[in-house]
Amino acid sequence: MTESRPHNPTSDGSGLLLEAFDAQLFRETSETALAKLEKHLSDLSIRGLELIDPATLSDAAKALMTTERERVATFDEEKLAGIIDLYIRTGIQVHSPGYMGRQFSGVVPLAGVIDFVSSVVNQPASFYEAAQLPNAVERIMADELNRFIGWDPARFTMVTTSGGSLANLTALLAARNQKLPGYWSEGGSSFRGQPRPAIAVGSDVHYSVARAAGVMGIGDAQLVRLPLNSRGQISVADARPALEAAERQNLKVFCLVASAGSTSVGAFDPIDELADLAREKDLWLHVDGAHGASLLVSDTLREKLRGIDKADSLTWDAHKMMFVPAPCTMLFYRDKESSLTAFRQKASYVFDEEPDIYTAYDSGGKNFECTKRPMIMTLWSLWAMYGPALFAEKIEYLCQLTEEAHGIVRAEPDFEALHRPEANILCFRYHPAGVRKEDVHRLQIAIRNSVKLRGNFFISKVNVDGVAALRVVMMNHQITGEHFRMLISEIRRTGQDLLSSEAGTETA
Ligand SMILES: Cc1ncc(COP(=O)(O)O)c(C=O)c1O
Repeated sequence: MTESRPHNPTSDGSGLLLEAFDAQLFRETSETALAKLEKHLSDLSIRGLELIDPATLSDAAKALMTTERERVATFDEEKLAGIIDLYIRTGIQVHSPGYMGRQFSGVVPLAGVIDFVSSVVNQPASFYEAAQLPNAVERIMADELNRFIGWDPARFTMVTTSGGSLANLTALLAARNQKLPGYWSEGGSSFRGQPRPAIAVGSDVHYSVARAAGVMGIGDAQLVRLPLNSRGQISVADARPALEAAERQNLKVFCLVASAGSTSVGAFDPIDELADLAREKDLWLHVDGAHGASLLVSDTLREKLRGIDKADSLTWDAHKMMFVPAPCTMLFYRDKESSLTAFRQKASYVFDEEPDIYTAYDSGGKNFECTKRPMIMTLWSLWAMYGPALFAEKIEYLCQLTEEAHGIVRAEPDFEALHRPEANILCFRYHPAGVRKEDVHRLQIAIRNSVKLRGNFFISKVNVDGVAALRVVMMNHQITGEHFRMLISEIRRTGQDLLSSEAGTETA
């Protein structure tokens, strides 16, 4: 047999493989990107979305691809510039005052810089030996933020997960495995004949909670949907009878999920009272604070989460109201032992049965992901550089701005404010006199879509009490009340155009 030596593609003379990894080229391409991003960040013009049809966009993307298939293609600076330009231009413009649409935020630019470093050093964060600093600062950040939660510093713990949806799933698994011992090892069928496991949620809970339940084999019929009061919060008075009715239906509710900042209207459930109810009924209390847990860092807004110290777990998305790139989610547990119950597994290649001082910092046993971004680095770096006031000041401004927007809506006779905002989400309708009740729903959806297509503002929509509403989420401190007035004028103009073109078709 002739000995075959591995072919080294760098020795064939082209050097193009080496060039792709070249540090000098890295610097030059970074400078190209930086110049473009600086321009992007400096552009404070009011713009929404430039919505392009997917086929056209795909063609534009294909035109930027090399046709070389045999060898590593020669680096093309113009192509790179084209890719970056197309990427920047076609997304939601999170840094523009025209963006009021979703909970996705414009980032503190420094967080983008640290994310860039993370991408280059590429340290998977589930294991200390692979990502030492991220694992060390995860504990530092946990301690910093727990000062606002108020749990026993010696007992609580935090783990990062790739998004709030995954954090909710992880917390529900921990809750189920703790309240229904044997479920993880024996499976659901061993519980046959016993009351079926169930989760109690507010009736407009984020879909990720219902989805997590589905993943765990808990069907829709096993979700006990608790009624809301007029402010969109779980009604404590109605929760007790609903839980008791569930028991009579042979359901074993093991967990109650409260929202700290509901997605639809930004309502904060009364955690304090719900915690008492949960304790009385021996339920795990999970607080989904994906949106609103960040209000804890503000002295004036913390009160919205009163009772959080009595919860068992808390989901907290930093990629929403802490203005870092997604994903960056923290899942807090009041009792660190509980964090080990979500996944009860052995895997000798990664988990040490007897942790040493290094592996004690691993989070692999506590989170779903094996490879995980070192997401805490962005948050910690901002905290390290600017301190908590950076977040508190911005959040307070956003909440005040939303309150101002509410006042503006209320002052317009052809608009209807649907709630007093509790944070930075406001829902309202354009409802001029003469529009029939049954047409209001369709009108809001048509307005939202037309505003989106016009491309000056980006807003969202949500059903409130079964009827569509326009929804703004204030995530950008560059937005002022004046910008919101401009949005209101645009909505009115759009609404009037739609109504008159409809009247035109009816009479034609
Ligand atoms: C209340 C709430 N929970 C969970 C989520 C899901 O979080 P993520 O998008 O980080 O998965 C969201 C997202 O909007 C949310 O508003």
